[in-house]
Amino acid sequence: SVELDLQTPTIPSKGCSSVRSHRKMSELHKPSTALQIPDNFKGYPLNSFCVPAHYTEDLAEILLPCGLILDRVERLAKDIAIHYEDQSFRALCVLKGGYKFFADLLDRVRQYNRLSGQSSVPFSTDFIRIQSYVDDKSTGNVRVIGLDNLENIRGKNVLIVEDIIDTGRTMVALLEHLKLYEPREVKVASLFVKRTPLSNGYKPDYVGFETPDRFLVGYALDYNERFRDLSHVCVISDTGRKKYANDPM
Ligand code: HPA
Ligand code: MG
Repeated sequence: SVELDLQTPTIPSKGCSSVRSHRKMSELHKPSTALQIPDNFKGYPLNSFCVPAHYTEDLAEILLPCGLILDRVERLAKDIAIHYEDQSFRALCVLKGGYKFFADLLDRVRQYNRLSGQSSVPFSTDFIRIQSYVDDKSTGNVRVIGLDNLENIRGKNVLIVEDIIDTGRTMVALLEHLKLYEPREVKVASLFVKRTPLSNGYKPDYVGFETPDRFLVGYALDYNERFRDLSHVCVISDTGRKKYANDPM
C-alpha cells in the first residue's frame, strides 16, 4: 500500500495559476502614459455640453469635458496607489489651480483604499501656494507659501499635485526648494503638460493629458481668477481674453 504524507507541503511549479504571485503589484503594474491631445484636435462645440451662460462668448471650444477628465484621473489614481503600495505619502496640493485635480485624484485613491482589500495607501494632505517670478537672467524662481510647515515632509514620500506644466520653470524651482527639507522621495502628478517650445524639458512622473499650446481654462485653471467656476477644460476665446485682461474678478 502507498502511504501519503499529508504533512509534506507541495511546492507548486512556477506560474501555477492557483497560486498567488508573491511579486508586488507595483512590479507587475505598468503605469499609463499621458493621453495625447493632438495639435489639430478641434475640440467639442460649446452647445454639445452645458456651459455657464456668463461664459458663452468667452470660450472658443471645449477641449476636455469634465467626465473625460475624471475618467483619466481615475486611472492616474490607480497608477499612484499601486506605486505607493502599502507605503504612506504626503499629497502636496499646489494652489489654486491644482485644487480640483487634487480633490478628485485623492477621492479616487480613497476609493482604491476602500475597495482594493489587499493593500492600501495612507496619505495626508498639505497645501502650498507658489508665486513664481522671473529674474533678469530669465531663470525661474519661486516663493513658496506653505499653509503647513514644510518640515512635515522630512524623510517622507511626497506627491506634488499640480494643474499644468507649461514652461516647467515653476516645477523645477519648487523641486529644488523642497530638497531643503530632505524628503524621502518626491513624485509629481500634473493633470496637463503643454507642448510648447518654451518648455525646459521637465516631465512629471504622472501626466493626465499632453495638450496643444493653447491657453486652457476651467476645472480650476484660471485666467485672471476667472473660469474657476467652469467644469470643463476649454480654450479661451479672443473675446474672453480681451474682456478679462487686467480685470481680475
Ligand atoms: N491655463 C491656465 N493657467 C496656466 C496655463 C493655462 O493654459 N499655462 C500655465 N498656467
Ligand atoms: Mg497653476
